Amino acid sequence: MQKSQVEELLNKSNPLKEQKVRDQCIGLGLRRSHYDEILKNKPPVSHFEFISDNFLTFNSYDFSLLEKIRESYPLYAHGVALSIGSDDALNFEYLKKIKELYKRIEPLAISDHLCWSSIGGHYSHDLLPFPLSKKMKKHFVEKIQKAQEFLQTNLVLENISTYVRFNSDEIPEGDFVADVAKQSGCKILLDVNNVFVNSVNFQFSAEEYIDSIDANLVDQIHIAGAKKVDDFYIDDHGSAPNDDVIGLLRKALNKYKNVPIHFEWDTNIPSFDQMLKETKKICQQI
Ligand SMILES: [Fe+2]
Repeated sequence: MQKSQVEELLNKSNPLKEQKVRDQCIGLGLRRSHYDEILKNKPPVSHFEFISDNFLTFNSYDFSLLEKIRESYPLYAHGVALSIGSDDALNFEYLKKIKELYKRIEPLAISDHLCWSSIGGHYSHDLLPFPLSKKMKKHFVEKIQKAQEFLQTNLVLENISTYVRFNSDEIPEGDFVADVAKQSGCKILLDVNNVFVNSVNFQFSAEEYIDSIDANLVDQIHIAGAKKVDDFYIDDHGSAPNDDVIGLLRKALNKYKNVPIHFEWDTNIPSFDQMLKETKKICQQI
């Protein structure tokens, strides 16, 4: 599929972009324990974000379920294994599958993370941190451009939560993320919970982080809950977002208008009903 065709498709099938974010409110991360409820009752959810890596076997039962869900909902694809910051060359076998997934499911966008997770072909299940340096920025930009060229579409990359900083850090995190997007042409999936977690753990202003990212760079927003341990936060996705994250979300929405929000919950996942109740509560607060 040519880039122009992809753009045409995105524009045509993206009703969310026509709505105000407060009307559309919040979509949910698609989780296995909720499949039955979604397929049987078609609950009123604006969209789902699915983990691409769980659906790369196209003759699998799970993939057929995803196709069924696609018949009723707009979907966003979110990957965890692109490893775009790795020193390894791009994994074109993986990218080929992502491209095929894009063709078959037609998600509204393909996202992954601004991080690395592999070395020498060995993959970690973690989204690993990197120095906020000029050298690293150049490395990201070059690899993102190559991946986008192959996929024939813009990538959307998420800012990660991290628990280490490096002596070679040179650039504030918000500026780093914004620069990578500006220079590579990718868009940002802004995880406001990750901004909050890093801002507390590394003592910087979450508001200034958001101020440093231009509105036209942000394509999607993530919200999630984090766990407080002493004076630190762990990004465990095991609760509803706290009041600070909701405050940050409100600030983000004033700046990034008409941007879809995805609510992530991955530890002790509640029932679907409970997720809807939590989502409604958040919608009322923004
Ligand atoms: Fe996230």
